[in-house]
Amino acid sequence: MAPSATSKQVGTATLTFGDKSADLPVLGGTLGTDCVDVRKLQSQLGIFTFDPSYGATASCESAITYIDGDEGILLYRGYPIEQLAEKSTFLEVAYLLLNGELPNQAQYKEFTTHVTMHTMLHEQIRRFWDGFRRDAHPMAMLCSVVGAMSAFYPDSIDIHDPRQREISAFRMIAKIPTITAWAHKYNAGQPFMYPRNDLSYAENFLYMFHAVPPQEYKPNPILTRAMDRILILHADHEQNASTSTVRLAGSTDANPFACIAAGIASLWGPAHGGANEAVLKMLEEIGSVKNIPAFIEQVKDKNSNVKLMGFGHRVYKNYDPRAKIMQKTCYEVLGELGIKDEPMLDLAMELEKIALNDEYFVSRKLYPNVDFYSGIILKAMGFPTKMFTPIFALARTVGWISQWKEMIEDPSNRINRPRQIYTGAPQRDYVSVDQRG
Ligand code: SDX
Repeated sequence: MAPSATSKQVGTATLTFGDKSADLPVLGGTLGTDCVDVRKLQSQLGIFTFDPSYGATASCESAITYIDGDEGILLYRGYPIEQLAEKSTFLEVAYLLLNGELPNQAQYKEFTTHVTMHTMLHEQIRRFWDGFRRDAHPMAMLCSVVGAMSAFYPDSIDIHDPRQREISAFRMIAKIPTITAWAHKYNAGQPFMYPRNDLSYAENFLYMFHAVPPQEYKPNPILTRAMDRILILHADHEQNASTSTVRLAGSTDANPFACIAAGIASLWGPAHGGANEAVLKMLEEIGSVKNIPAFIEQVKDKNSNVKLMGFGHRVYKNYDPRAKIMQKTCYEVLGELGIKDEPMLDLAMELEKIALNDEYFVSRKLYPNVDFYSGIILKAMGFPTKMFTPIFALARTVGWISQWKEMIEDPSNRINRPRQIYTGAPQRDYVSVDQRG
């Protein structure tokens, strides 16, 4: 188990308000920005802090993922994402995120066996799909099916029982590929393919997604490797919106399946995990390189409400390291598929080049993020656009469940309950309708 390091006081910040002042501890962790501990601010100065989008607020202590937005650094339990993407596998990264250390051979074998043994869904869950329209968005199906899982696995929802927490983690990680693949099969009107125990995690997902009963399916090793790498790149990312949603839901002692369903719902937004689908739609709307200048002008016009999807990030004010690896994987996948010129990739590269030389984007430190290239690879691998975000959710499930586990096991964990600045009407008395004029 990784050392359960906690933050230490590295200094004091003195805040003065009116005729009072408070000495607040400043806490520092292993890496990153120090934080002023404001937990006693209200009792000492009678005031709250105000940070509506939490841009300058640390919501928790965590030992899982570290991001340095200025340097473009991403570490999972201290290991650089570039090394893990190159040398590790998604299930090894899943073990690392959950347990804090890379597994030895025996631990890895036991872990993969547990995951493999949980890939099947309760047969009754299949009937959920009969209730959806055939054209239902797969994210709607993921939200619904995952949210209902506690009804099918009631023996692993006691969050205070470590064994049940472990089983629900295995069930979530193991079943999310089956649910994701079946959502696609339902959209496609094809029969569901059951998981196979002889395939690796990424092979199994590609099999359940692409295989059809009449045809033998042989996973392509290059595409399998690319899929595994894409899952690694999306596995976790500190306290992003969907992870914070999972933590907030989990802080009420809600069951883990309900918390993951909340995370899926939050990830769906185009400002977050829905951006990969939005990038492809944006590239299709731009259509060709000659239309880029007009599109860029539209983005700069605040009234247009048009954003350069796949660009910008709350934390990265430098290149998202995942985008670089994604771009490299793009070439590998297109090469393996014998796709000499992919117009979408050419368009994306030209769009990136123009944007990175435009003052509007440079001055706002807007760079490609993980979503800018992922859609191009997934499209080349035969995934429909509306499956891009579900694949992001599939990968992020291990990050969500790792962060949820860390929070539940943190003795200082309390229900998350932000406050507000009230700007509504002052207290007033009720007036009956016949007196209201
Ligand atoms: C993910 O948090 C995570 O870690 C998320 C994620 C993860 O792994 O979990 O990394 C995954 O969600 C990546 C982000 C995917 N979203 C997109 O690609 C959608 C497009 N990006 C934007 O919506 C935006 O950049 C956000 C939402 C990602 C970040 O928003 P912020 O931090 O609130 O940035 P901002 O809105 O304060 O932007 C600052 C300025 C503004 O201009 P001004 O008001 O200063 O004039 O930059 C502009 C914004 O209008 N801006 C953009 C832009 N992103 C920001 N202008 C055009 N196109 C964009 N994409």
